[in-house]
Parts: sequence; C-alpha cells; structure tokens
Amino acid sequence: MGKVVLVTGANSGIGLALCERLLAQDSQLQLCLACRNMQRAESARRALLTSHANAQVSLLQLDVGNLCSVLRAAQEVKQRFNRLDYLYLNAGIMPNPQLDIKAFFRGLFSSNVIRMFATAEGILTQQDKVTSDGIQEVFVTNLFGHFLLVRELEPLLCQAGRSSQVIWTSSSNARRSAFSLDDIQHREGREPYSSSKYASDLLSLALNRHHNKQGLYSSVICPGLVMTNLTYGILPSFFWSLIMPIMWLIRIFTNTFTLTPYNGAEALFWLFMQKPESLDPMVKYHSLTSGLGNNYTAARKMDIDENTAESLYEQLLELEDRVRKRLKEEDSGIKA
Ligand SMILES: NC(=O)c1ccc[n+]([C@@H]2O[C@H](COP(=O)([O-])OP(=O)(O)OC[C@H]3O[C@@H](n4cnc5c(N)ncnc54)[C@H](OP(=O)(O)O)[C@@H]3O)[C@@H](O)[C@H]2O)c1
Repeated sequence: MGKVVLVTGANSGIGLALCERLLAQDSQLQLCLACRNMQRAESARRALLTSHANAQVSLLQLDVGNLCSVLRAAQEVKQRFNRLDYLYLNAGIMPNPQLDIKAFFRGLFSSNVIRMFATAEGILTQQDKVTSDGIQEVFVTNLFGHFLLVRELEPLLCQAGRSSQVIWTSSSNARRSAFSLDDIQHREGREPYSSSKYASDLLSLALNRHHNKQGLYSSVICPGLVMTNLTYGILPSFFWSLIMPIMWLIRIFTNTFTLTPYNGAEALFWLFMQKPESLDPMVKYHSLTSGLGNNYTAARKMDIDENTAESLYEQLLELEDRVRKRLKEEDSGIKA
C-alpha cells in the first residue's frame, strides 16, 4: 500500500494546490480529499485526475465545524485505511471579516505595509457565531474539530515502527495578544481567527510533547499572503484587482507575498519530503517566494511556550470529554 495522505479543505485554494503538487511528486500516493461539500470535492477530484489520470484519489465527507461529522469521518478513515502517513489540517475560515479601511490605507502608504499584509495586525476583526454544538465556529473549524480528528485517528497515526506527520496550516496572523487561556474559544474578543491560529501553534507543540515517542510529529506552516476564496472574502475582488499592481511591486521587496495557491503550498509540500524527526517543534515553516518567483521554505521561531501549550492541551481534553459525554447522552436519548 502506498503512503496515505489526508487533506482537509482540499477542494480549493492552498489545499487543492497541495494535492496537485503531492500527486506530481508521488504517483503511488493514496490521496484522500476531506471536504464538507461533496459537489466541490468531486470537481476537485476530477481536476486532479485530469492531470494525473492514474492517481488514487478518494473523497471523504467531513465538516470540521460539526463534531458528529468529524467522528463519522474518522470512523470511515479507520475502515478504509490501515495507515495514515500525513494528515494535513488545512481547512479554515475567517467569517465576516471587517477591515478597518482607514488603518488599511494608512498602512498601505507607510513603511509598515509589508508587515500589515503579512499579519493583518490592527486592521482586521471578525464576527463569530456559535454552532449547533454550542461551540464558537472559528474555534471549532480552525482548531477543535481538527483536534478531535487527530484524537480519533491516533490508532492510525501512532503505529509501531512507523512515523506520521500532522501538519497545520497556521498563519502569520497568529498572535499571542489575541489568545487567552481564560477564553480559548475567543467568545469575548473580535479576533477569533488570530486566536484560533495561535492556538494551533500551541497545540502543535503539545502534540509533539505527548506523541513524538509514539511516532506522531506535528508542524505548523504559514502559506504567506495567497489570493484564495478566504482572502477574496476580506475585500471585494474588484478592490484586490485595483491594488494588485501595488502588491506585485511590493513582492519585489518581500518574500511573504506568495500570492498563488501553488506558491502558498510550498511549505506544506516541503514538509512532505522531510524526515519528521529532523523538524523543530518551536518553529513555523513559512512558504516564501522571491522577487524572481522562486519558492522556498524558511523556519522562523514562534512566540510560544511549553506551559501555555500544556494548559491549552488540558483544556482541549476536558472539552473533548464534555462533548463526547453530551453526544453519547443525545445518542442514547434518540435510541430510547
Ligand atoms: N489565503 C491566505 O492568504 C492564507 C494565509 C494564512 C493562512 N491561510 C490558511 O490557509 C488555509 C486554506 O485556506 P485558503 O486560503 O486556501 O482558502 P479557501 O480556498 O477558502 O480554502 C479553505 C478550505 O477550507 C474548507 N473549509 C472551510 N470550512 C470547512 C469546514 N467546516 N469543514 C470542512 N472544510 C471546510 C473550504 O471548503 P468550502 O469550499 O466548502 O468552503 C476550503 O476547501 C486556511 O486554514 C487558512 O486559514 C490562508
């Protein structure tokens, strides 16, 4: 059996570009596209098979924002595969983004422009909501649904004599100041995206601490600034077209404007080819593109620490426990 790779949010943007690159690298792969919308998943599969006719590409229905869906999908994966070599946790949302237009224009014509685009610090907030599971939507989609998936897939990820990689698509927008251990779901604040991405950086560290001995290695990446459905949700597309010449110009001076999903997937792809034991749990791997258009990956130290990571991990385990109890009660209520 060839290596098994599962990618969440595989039907568009960076996730789809990654799938394309993985198949070009290894035609023996068993690639599983985990998506919430099966129509979009089928179109992605067809697109991949157009360029890789003999590839083994399967679909899995997974809504990471819905806990029953996560449990069902994990069950399905365990039935279909007897190994899982790479788990790319890439699905993510930034709902109802609100851009501070004044701050944006001030930043656009300041020396801070590159940092502004890279981190969105001080210019971007979001409006979150609570899902039917009673959990904040951004938190569950970007972090907790994926955490539950990892927990469920541990039997496949932690197998004797074999190592596996869990790879999170984080962001440079992940900031300590947006995250609080007293409010891990970010119910109170207006930067749930930043908070969830910072939490994924912490969780990756904790996963390494708890699971390296069992062969599971976790890493986080930042794809840079990429034009995808997510970024087109922040500003209308005509506006992006308007400022695109400025962005291509800035790209000469910075390497974080990766712009295309292919370039943005660079660090995800690079990790696919690394020995997991050689990776550093304290760094984030950044997709970068030079002014001449060459892609490369660079490691940058993260602003995280073991104690905070451990406290978050414990809170996630407690939340998982509560969620499982509730789902069990609901299930037995239905059966009764
Ligand atoms: N673009 C950037 O500049 C940038 C920068 C930093 C980090 N990122 C991160 O990169 C990752 C990929 O985003 P992208 O830029 O490629 O945007 P995208 O094209 O919108 O891709 C997001 C993917 O996530 C899926 N998704 C969203 N909610 C889901 C759910 N509840 N269950 C299952 N799948 C779900 C989407 O599926 P649907 O088609 O069904 O919505 C889509 O396939 C995200 O984690 C994002 O935070 C992006």
